[in-house]
Amino acid sequence: MTENILHTLAYDLLPAVRMQMPGTIPPVLTFSGDEPFREAARSPQAFEEWKRVWRGAEPSFTEVVWSDAEKAAGTLTAAMREEQGLLMLKDAGLLAWGPGKDITDRLLGGEKTEKSKAPSGPLTGRIALITGAAQGFGKGLAEHLAADGACVMVADINGETGRETVRQLREKTGNPNIAFVGADVTKSDSVDGMVRATVLAFGGLDIFISNAGILKAGGLEALEEQAFDLVTQVNYKGFYLGTKYASRVMKTQHCHAPQRFMDIIQINSKSGLQGSNRNFAYAGSKFGSIGLVQSFALELVPDNIKVNAVCPGNFFDGPLWSDPDNGLFVQYLRAGKVAGAKTIEDVRRYYESLVPMGRGTTVKDVYRAVTYLIQQEYETGQALPVTGGQVMLK
Ligand SMILES: NC(=O)c1ccc[n+]([C@@H]2O[C@H](COP(=O)([O-])OP(=O)(O)OC[C@H]3O[C@@H](n4cnc5c(N)ncnc54)[C@H](O)[C@@H]3O)[C@@H](O)[C@H]2O)c1
Repeated sequence: MTENILHTLAYDLLPAVRMQMPGTIPPVLTFSGDEPFREAARSPQAFEEWKRVWRGAEPSFTEVVWSDAEKAAGTLTAAMREEQGLLMLKDAGLLAWGPGKDITDRLLGGEKTEKSKAPSGPLTGRIALITGAAQGFGKGLAEHLAADGACVMVADINGETGRETVRQLREKTGNPNIAFVGADVTKSDSVDGMVRATVLAFGGLDIFISNAGILKAGGLEALEEQAFDLVTQVNYKGFYLGTKYASRVMKTQHCHAPQRFMDIIQINSKSGLQGSNRNFAYAGSKFGSIGLVQSFALELVPDNIKVNAVCPGNFFDGPLWSDPDNGLFVQYLRAGKVAGAKTIEDVRRYYESLVPMGRGTTVKDVYRAVTYLIQQEYETGQALPVTGGQVMLK
């Protein structure tokens, strides 16, 4: 299978087919170009030979005009009349569709299908991709999205934790429509691969949450230039790259479902609204990202893609602050940053006292803002503070 075919499948074909399928809730589409499907897809003869050993639901062999995605989408949609099934796509591999990824995975595995276990909720039928979701805010948001019925792709540079997170979230939410993709948001090829993997696993993309972010604090004399570059690359460039590839899929969906709204949401920070002493690399990357949010919002309005940011205050319960070895509470205690503080609790209380509402931001606070932005059909280009009153808009 060539790169061109994979590109067409992910950016043009599957998102178009998913939007054209009948019914109010689009099905999950899962594609596999693995052996032996790729071999069987080479010709009708190879397909017939493979079918002799295949024990699963019977697919039909489908000629696809790869150079004309519009035509190809029409052919596929016409062939996908049942609620679930399999199609062998010539020169590519096997496409499964059904009401959940548990079903499409079983179909691709040649197993018998049962009723889908996917929970239903306000986001049933929506596909979300969230970066930096192995831990922290990203993991918490992925859990809420999955509990609300969405298909969720967890993307992270940390494969081990990311895969374990998916296992935990499937168990906790009972939603089988959660998958992992390894991705470095600073690298164009990797981000392209992340978006393709999402579409090949689920069939499209409706909600992209750019959450991966890092913090390297330090004043002008202390902060190394490389640290400045890395923070800028992850927090600022990573958002640009994610939007570039995610919006391609969303634009295709818009062509086939012009009334549907889609969302790109950056998890920004209160430091994107107010300067942060000796933390300029982080604050600069977050302020800059709000410039990107506003500019992308203007560019993508015609495609019904809303682009907004959520700007949380400090997440004291997350690993950044509470990690027992390296968290900011321990670091600030050791560095004597808070006068008179003798314990981690003293440091925590001091930071909580800076928030008018007296506590740090939680995942739930941020998720409420995310769901507001998804539900709202008359707002784009905004940076929504969730800071307990610590930062107020001017
Ligand atoms: N923790 C806070 O107090 C706080 C407050 C406001 C905003 N935020 C923002 O929320 C977002 C998440 O923060 P968090 O505290 O949950 O962070 P975290 O450190 O707990 O998690 C960040 C995740 O991003 C991943 N990551 C790092 N570099 C990556 C890369 N190049 N490609 C892909 N993944 C990468 C990490 O592996 C990790 O899983 C960030 O954008 C951060 O700026 C955090």
